Amino acid sequence: MCGIVGAVAQRDIAEILLEGLRRLEYRGYDSAGLAVVDNEGHMGRLRRLGKVQVLADALDAHPLHGGTGIAHTRWATHGEPSEANAHPHVSDYIAVVHNGIIENFEPLRVLLIERGYRFESQTDTEVIAHLVHWELLQGGTLLEAVLRVIPQLRGAYGTVVMDQRDPSVLVAARSGSPLVIGRGVGENFIASDQLALLPVTRRFMFLEEGDVAEIKRREVNVFDKHGKAVERPEIESKVQYDAGDKGAYRHYMQKEIYEQPQAIKNTLEGRFNHGQINLSELGPDADALLAKVQHVQIIACGTSYHSGMVARYWFEALAGVPCDVEIASEFRYRKSAVRPGSLIITLSQSGETADTLAALRLSKELGYLGSLAVCNVAGSSLVRESDLALMTKAGTEIGVASTKAFTTQLTVLLMLVARVGRLKGMSEQVEHEIVHGLQALPARIEQMLSLDKTIESLAEGFSDKHHALFLGRGDQYPIAMEGALKLKEVSYIHAEAYAAGELKHGPLALIDADMPVIVVAPNNELLEKLKSNIEEVRARGGQLYVFADQDAGFTDSEGMKIIQLPHVEEIVAPIFYTVPLQLLSYHVALIKGTDVDQPRNLAKSVTVE
Ligand code: M6R
Repeated sequence: MCGIVGAVAQRDIAEILLEGLRRLEYRGYDSAGLAVVDNEGHMGRLRRLGKVQVLADALDAHPLHGGTGIAHTRWATHGEPSEANAHPHVSDYIAVVHNGIIENFEPLRVLLIERGYRFESQTDTEVIAHLVHWELLQGGTLLEAVLRVIPQLRGAYGTVVMDQRDPSVLVAARSGSPLVIGRGVGENFIASDQLALLPVTRRFMFLEEGDVAEIKRREVNVFDKHGKAVERPEIESKVQYDAGDKGAYRHYMQKEIYEQPQAIKNTLEGRFNHGQINLSELGPDADALLAKVQHVQIIACGTSYHSGMVARYWFEALAGVPCDVEIASEFRYRKSAVRPGSLIITLSQSGETADTLAALRLSKELGYLGSLAVCNVAGSSLVRESDLALMTKAGTEIGVASTKAFTTQLTVLLMLVARVGRLKGMSEQVEHEIVHGLQALPARIEQMLSLDKTIESLAEGFSDKHHALFLGRGDQYPIAMEGALKLKEVSYIHAEAYAAGELKHGPLALIDADMPVIVVAPNNELLEKLKSNIEEVRARGGQLYVFADQDAGFTDSEGMKIIQLPHVEEIVAPIFYTVPLQLLSYHVALIKGTDVDQPRNLAKSVTVE
């Protein structure tokens, strides 16, 4: 969740570290800091509470010079956001940045206090700094000291350690949180995400689970979890250099909502062949595996979980394959029974979500038929550790509120359902309907985006509201859930979603004039049932906002505002109806004046459980 950047170079690197932090700020943004060592071995450290810009202003006033340094933007786990808790943490000449959680930090803290160390923060990270310092006192190099510290730590972490006395080297360790080395010419870098380093290099080497790396100006030495020297492949990044640029948009969330037609086009590209879905990228053995699938278990968190819920409707209705969906943090701690022939599908934008990764690892012990990841980040842990992977081509998603990652996940999932379905006897006709729906989708979403002003005008109605209810039926129920998550996440309005048929089983008691009720109403076989639910709300004075198909027969009336949407192919309606709910949340957040791209208390990539 926190962002890490480090550099070993001959030039001054403070600005490079700062730019890296700006690009990683979406991962955590309650405080930030950096430490830089110059050639004479002087270390300067600067930390500030608040956003990276506060740190940048401080750096203007107190410039730091030197070619070796580490930097960090924080999402607090242990200890409130404060300057004292901001990284880097130091122990005499040792400085450390860290992402993740050291679960046994309390006994380690007691042990270190007994050894005479004094703690200056409430963080778990500070134990790493003191442990490294202690081990160095026992002798050996920084690398050897870190290698001796690692077995003492429990938890998931990515960490980078610097010794003020020897600025020629940084040592990094990865256990559960991603780290990537950026290769330069006569200089090398490390970060928790390649995005941070794109201004200085496109050549990357991803550390694997348990790796420890020694990073010097002209060489990088990597050791695996057994301490054996290993080579990790170097890749040329294809991530757009300007991915971190908002362009003409006011917020990343807005930009990413508007990018959806193109992101879906990119996701579809190369995946059709003569009117059929072509997922040959899965490799020559994939069809044999998919043909054996008798059950699908989907695992994900947050927005990705909602796309899994939609996929469940599709797997069962279109491919005839039983499907369950579970939140990763529940699955990983539950004693679950594995169904015969069960394929585990993990869904994740980042591919680094701690609970989803843990669930995948558990599934291997439990004996699933195989694993398939649907992910937006090539080279992420989830992709590397799964048997099969299908990439969404959403491009980098920076806004903490997930938008284009969700609609491209659904796009990929529908193609996967079609492929599995065909292997299971689904008709060619249904496949054609899916292909047609998917091909038409980018243009349909373009049309939808042209209703932005209409949706913006609705947002006023939410300015004084504290709660909202979202309703949908069938495959629109997860879309209502996603709409509610988006609204609460970016506007801080409490929002809940219900399957509309559940209303009279309790939530109807909440309805009054202060409760906006948002309904997604495509023209499908559940429309009449949904209309009855809408009447139940209307009869009790609820304020309805109905996003309805233009042919669904709704008109504005007292207490009911209808947003007429263009007709869309039924099969892709869940993807299409997501977009107006994203726009609504965005505009409500603007009115509420929240930090749209970096909502309070959140971070983009949840690499701690
Ligand atoms: O990277 P992932 O898709 O695994 O992330 C899962 C959730 O943390 C994420 O979707 C979160 O719920 C978003 N903030 C929702 O907008």
